[in-house]
Parts: sequence; structure tokens; C-alpha cells
Amino acid sequence: VRRLLPDSAEIEVDEQYGALAMADLAPDGRPYVFANFAATVDGRATISGRSGPIGSDVDTRVLMLLRSVADAVMIGAGTMRAERYGRMVPDGDLRDRREAAGLARDPVAVLVTRTLDFPWEAGLFTSGEGSVVIYTSADSEAPETATPVDVVRHPETVDLAAMMADLRDRGIRALLTEGGPTILAELVEHRLVDELFLTIAPKLGGEPTAPTILEGPLTEPVAIDIEWLLEQDGELYARYRIRE
Ligand SMILES: NC(=O)c1ccc[n+]([C@@H]2O[C@H](COP(=O)([O-])OP(=O)(O)OC[C@H]3O[C@@H](n4cnc5c(N)ncnc54)[C@H](OP(=O)(O)O)[C@@H]3O)[C@@H](O)[C@H]2O)c1
Repeated sequence: VRRLLPDSAEIEVDEQYGALAMADLAPDGRPYVFANFAATVDGRATISGRSGPIGSDVDTRVLMLLRSVADAVMIGAGTMRAERYGRMVPDGDLRDRREAAGLARDPVAVLVTRTLDFPWEAGLFTSGEGSVVIYTSADSEAPETATPVDVVRHPETVDLAAMMADLRDRGIRALLTEGGPTILAELVEHRLVDELFLTIAPKLGGEPTAPTILEGPLTEPVAIDIEWLLEQDGELYARYRIRE
């Protein structure tokens, strides 16, 4: 993979992403929050309703490396319903690296929902590995699952700032969010995102109803600064810092 910014060099993605020390950047009162998304050149975040067809194997590796440096990985219910997550870090070598770095072998999975409408048969719930924390405003009960699930109730809707404070109290210092687009918009609007990792795939999706990476109004545009830009086979891997 070629690094184009901030300098030019041939690099290994494992070295570029695997050594990120996000937890050291945690501010008081909440985790350091970094988002990861993939989009087509026409700005679409899905092809046929899924994110998988957008990026290459390098994009998947980047995602796995970012998960492997996070204490927790957060997604909205829309993404869980579309993508049916399994175990967050399926690669045993990456789990070994986490352990060697003093992290839990599996990052905590954090889910946000008003409905508790989840595909409970998905591997995340049935593998029995790791743990899940669900923040919800639903009154209903979650079913019994092999993976331990902790349900945190909020009235009416989940207060994302309060959720972040609670996650920090639980020892989460580095939080990766994989969205989706609705959650990303809410997080950015509430200034709860520090960085955005964005893969731009050399494809035109062309589906008018497919979401962009950010579905939801921002009261004003948010400035971001580019931290690095990598390239392989026309696919771009950008790291942006969101200005305060
Ligand atoms: N290209 C990419 O990188 C990428 C990344 C992620 C997702 N995606 C795609 O994006 C699509 C899903 O988009 P989406 O916008 O629906 O996903 P989302 O942001 O993951 O989920 C939205 C849902 O999250 C819950 N939610 C959001 N804010 C909440 C709050 N404050 N309190 C309580 N619940 C809250 C609600 O769940 P309930 O409906 O259960 O109440 C809401 O319907 C999928 O097709 C997925 O493949 C693409």
C-alpha cells in the first residue's frame, strides 16, 4: 500500500493501523471515538443494502485492525440488522495481539436501539465470546443469549453523551464506531466523534436510495483535517480528524 500523505512511502497496513494507541487520546468523561466507513466515489455507503460489496480485502483488513485496537465497537441497530455481526475480531492472531497489548481478547460490542429488534440468531449473540452492552429506550426484555448481554435503559431515546460517559465508567477508553449513517450523524452533531477513517472505493454505486455515510441533519457543516491518505489499486484510505 502506498502512503500519499503526509509523506510518500510504501507501507504495510498492519503497521500503519495495528500500532494506533487510541486509548492514550481519551478525553475526560468519555472514550476517544473513531469512526470507520466505506463509500463509493459517488458517496454511497451501501450496494444492495450492504457495506461489504463496497471495499476490497485491504478495506476489510483495515476494519479488522481498527477493531483490534479498540476497547469497544459500537453500532446502531440498523447496521446490526443489515450486517448480522458475528464475533468482532474473528482472527485469533489479532486477538493474541490484543492480549499482548493488555486489552481484552474481544472488544465489547455496544449496540444502540429504541426497539430491541435484533437478529438474535447472529453470531455476535450466539458465539458466547466477548460481551455485549445494549443501550435502549425499549421496555421489552432481551432474550437469553450465549454471549453475555447487559441492557442499559434510557427514557424515550438513548442519550448518546450519557452513554459515552457510562462507557468510560466501564473502562472503555478507545471506541470504534462503524455507524451506521444515522448514528454517525447523531454523534457528529453532538461532537462525540474525534476521527473518521474513510475508505473510498473506486466504484460508482449508482443506487439513488442508498445512504451516504452521514444520514441526518447537521446544524452546520463540520470541518475536518486530513491526517493521512493511503492508496492501493485505486482505493483510497483516508484518516481525518474532526475539528472541535
Ligand atoms: N459503508 C459503511 O461503512 C457502512 C457502515 C455501517 C452501516 N452501513 C449500512 O448502513 C445501513 C444502516 O443504516 P442506518 O442509518 O439504519 O444504521 P444505524 O445508524 O446503524 O442504525 C439506526 C438505528 O439505530 C438506532 N438508533 C439510532 N440513534 C438512536 C438513539 N439516539 N437512541 C436509540 N436508538 C437509536 C435505531 O434503532 P431501532 O430502529 O432499533 O430503534 C435506528 O433505527 C445498512 O444498510 C448498513 O449496511 C454502511
